[in-house]
Amino acid sequence: MVLSIRKQATTAAMLVLSMLCLTGCDSDNTGNPFMDYYDPATVFFNITEVQVGSGDLVATGSRVRVAYTAWEHDNGESENKGQLVIEKSEVQFIVGAQQVFEGLDQGMSGMRVGGRRRLNVPANRAFGAAGSATVPPNTDLVVEVELLSVEAVTTDSAPFSSTDLRTGAGPPAAAGDDLTVSYGGWFYDESEPDQKGVLFDSGTNFTFRLGLGQVIDGWDQGLVGIKVGGLRRLVLPPELAYGDNPRGVIPANATLVFEVTLLTLAPAP
Ligand SMILES: *[C@@H]1O[C@H](CO)[C@@H](O)[C@H](O)[C@H]1NC(C)=O
Ligand SMILES: *[C@@H]1O[C@H](CO)[C@@H](O)[C@H](O)[C@H]1NC(C)=O
Ligand SMILES: *[C@@H]1O[C@H](CO)[C@@H](O)[C@H](O)[C@H]1NC(C)=O
Repeated sequence: MVLSIRKQATTAAMLVLSMLCLTGCDSDNTGNPFMDYYDPATVFFNITEVQVGSGDLVATGSRVRVAYTAWEHDNGESENKGQLVIEKSEVQFIVGAQQVFEGLDQGMSGMRVGGRRRLNVPANRAFGAAGSATVPPNTDLVVEVELLSVEAVTTDSAPFSSTDLRTGAGPPAAAGDDLTVSYGGWFYDESEPDQKGVLFDSGTNFTFRLGLGQVIDGWDQGLVGIKVGGLRRLVLPPELAYGDNPRGVIPANATLVFEVTLLTLAPAP
């Protein structure tokens, strides 16, 4: 989960965002930016600037285009580059949206266009125990990445709408009730099926009290009346979501799509 729909930043995901900031704010870029958080004896992740870029700076939420190559980490080889496992001439993703493996996502922070970095990425921040089509399970990687371009993300615009994709049963949710939901959140994108662009957040068993400002206004207003088992789709213009402040991967003035399933409802005490 990248970002909570909670108004207050309380989730573990926010720690990820602050780590990203740390990496980006770390001016020397020589050591291990995660030292403060992890025991270096068990986790390594370091960044070497091969070439410092001079173009635009990457931030969380930027859409980047990169080329990258990955090797199995091998202490016996020059620059620890063992077997070549991935070679991509162009990949696009939004930094912080977990669209690529974590080490690549985090390793972008603070880069400028034209820059090249070498990242030492432990398996648990790469393809983990599962591996991928070309990466064996539990493989630490050496990744060389070049930043080709960076741009700010904007979403298409749409007015508020609420659609019940599935009607639940039982009493309709009202202000003061405690709701437990599962949900996904996407950038509103006219060119995608159901206007669901990039998935920026998802969660399950998320509990909040309806109508009290614990969540964004679009949820407080848009989830009134939903019943247990119901699935509701909300299209939220920025004034009902995060307004004109960028927040994590969510750009300023973003229109968002949420699909929310009501799992349980506890009536107002
Ligand atoms: C980065 O981490 C790898 C793996 O632990 C290590 O071999 C290498 O020396 C480190 N590089 C720097 C610059 O700390
Ligand atoms: C959500 O809560 C239910 C009921 O307490 C539990 O069975 C389920 O494992 C939880 N799911 C997750 C992903 O935590
Ligand atoms: C967001 O919208 C407001 C109001 O229309 C506008 O003043 C502001 O410049 C916009 N911000 C961005 C980053 O587009």
